[in-house]
Amino acid sequence: MTHSPSDFDSRARTWDEDTSKWERARRVAQSIAGRVPSLSGRRVLEYGAGTGLLGLALQPLVAEVTLADSSREMLAVAQEKIAARGIRNARTLRLDLAEGSAPELRFDVICTLMTLHHIPDTDGILGAFHRLLSKAGIVCIADLDREDGSFHGPGFSGHNGFDRADLRARLERSGFRNVNIDIVHEVKKETAAGPRVYPVFLAIAEKS
Ligand SMILES: C[S@@+](CC[C@H](N)C(=O)[O-])C[C@H]1O[C@@H](n2cnc3c(N)ncnc32)[C@H](O)[C@@H]1O
Repeated sequence: MTHSPSDFDSRARTWDEDTSKWERARRVAQSIAGRVPSLSGRRVLEYGAGTGLLGLALQPLVAEVTLADSSREMLAVAQEKIAARGIRNARTLRLDLAEGSAPELRFDVICTLMTLHHIPDTDGILGAFHRLLSKAGIVCIADLDREDGSFHGPGFSGHNGFDRADLRARLERSGFRNVNIDIVHEVKKETAAGPRVYPVFLAIAEKS
């Protein structure tokens, strides 16, 4: 099983029906707000934003937020929320950094939630984040801790979560410093082997 952009397209209209996704985004947004200083002046990119659950939770706290994703349908749902709420400091952007070079844009903070494990080349995406960040910009990566593959089940071709020490080393090799990684949430999920709990970490690091 892979998750192609069209899989996410087909899931976009029902994505927000799962209230645990709202809770996950709220918890991660709260953790980012508690750890990243001076958010109110920052231009934020949420990469792999989906329907914008994390970015729109941060939106009232930041200068502006760009919700980027490779799925047109996810972005359509996000754009409808922006319009329905009359939000003026948020926009959507179709972007796949795994497919092309980083655009000539700069952000002060890049955040991403449950997206990195879908992208095969972790070092490549960390390098792209580094290029998109302004001087001393901050990257905030929330994703699954290393798991046994039961989260997605057989045939998933992405990462089975991340080993935190390995991710720290990759961040440092990609030009980030002051790396901090904590568990901030748990996803509860029914699997073939019964109910399971999957820790979600938040890694925060500064562009050096
Ligand atoms: C598991 S969903 C998470 C969505 C959202 N962050 C959330 O927590 O509700 C992963 C998202 O990453 C997007 N995605 C996957 N690969 C991507 C890529 N290479 N570039 C940009 N977005 C990607 C998908 O379209 C999808 O919206």
